[in-house]
Amino acid sequence: MVTKLLILAAAYLLGSIPFALVVGKVGYGIDIREHGSGNLGGTNTFRVLGVKAGMMVTIGDILKGTLAASLPVLFAVDMHPLLAGVFAVIGHMYPVFAGFRGGKAVATSGGVILFYSPFLFFTLIAVFFLTLYLSKYVSLSSMMAGVYAIIYTVFFTDDIPLTIVVAVLTAFIFYRHRANIKRIINKTEPKVKWL
Ligand code: G3P
Repeated sequence: MVTKLLILAAAYLLGSIPFALVVGKVGYGIDIREHGSGNLGGTNTFRVLGVKAGMMVTIGDILKGTLAASLPVLFAVDMHPLLAGVFAVIGHMYPVFAGFRGGKAVATSGGVILFYSPFLFFTLIAVFFLTLYLSKYVSLSSMMAGVYAIIYTVFFTDDIPLTIVVAVLTAFIFYRHRANIKRIINKTEPKVKWL
């Protein structure tokens, strides 16, 4: 029992690493929370600090989800990897190292899925970029990837834990994009310019 709690705590702490804050402050002397959308995530880092910083943050946010999901396997603990993954995503959204004001759950959720189902991960990426190409909205693309994941797991797998966790992660993503949804409806959500 104690080992399981330690794994969940470690997953939460891993998810809490605020890469956007660290890269912004250490690399550029900027608090990313005071710029752009104010979100501690890859998209806002791309927006405010450019491609190199954005890539670093996105990859870091993905990998912390992947590593957290792998903890039960690495330490041979009888726990579903996706449960540890959910705790990493909670850490990413509400990071103890950044005043509990974190990101919107997208990249870290992707990292969790990458560990458990690489096929689903790569098709998620395809859905994300297809939606981005058509809409130019990163936020909408993130939410559509979540919707696709639910449809895929419900209709093309019989993996109940995966289906439940995908539904939970997509609910997190929608909840954290409340402001983006309002802006999309009001047509004030910024579009990407490079597509
Ligand atoms: O991954 C977050 C993205 O979907 C939206 O970020 O900064 O545009 O609110 P942002």
